[in-house]
Amino acid sequence: MAEDPYLELLKKAMERAYAPYSGFPVGAVVKSNSGKLYSGTNMENAAYPQGWCAETSAIAAMVMAGEQQLVEVAVMAEGEKPCPPCGGCRQKLWEFALPGTRVLVYSPQGLKASWLLENLLPHAFGGDHLK
Ligand code: THU
Repeated sequence: MAEDPYLELLKKAMERAYAPYSGFPVGAVVKSNSGKLYSGTNMENAAYPQGWCAETSAIAAMVMAGEQQLVEVAVMAEGEKPCPPCGGCRQKLWEFALPGTRVLVYSPQGLKASWLLENLLPHAFGGDHLK
């Protein structure tokens, strides 16, 4: 069986988390439509609302590399319940997602859940609404 492309990258991203306030490290990897993978982690702040999520960091890395379309996103956190992207990250992912974009959720032990982004954000608001 082919090796999981995300597992090790997610663990490394999670290790880089700066999450001293929540104690909840998260790693994320987005796959662009060129097939490249971009990692990100959560970065908190003493002024709590200023922190941001792992998915947001990964999207920023992709955009900074000159890419603007993503086909898959993988997220890893500890815990019994799979950690889905928060509402704000669903919206940020939607901005760059292609139809059929999948969200894969991992624990350090492996894949726990897989959803279509469109099912996590039904009736999404997007750029078309501004036309
Ligand atoms: N967090 C993420 O990085 N991604 C998610 O999808 C859910 C939450 C982070 C934000 C904060 O640093 C910590 O997890 C606790 O909410």
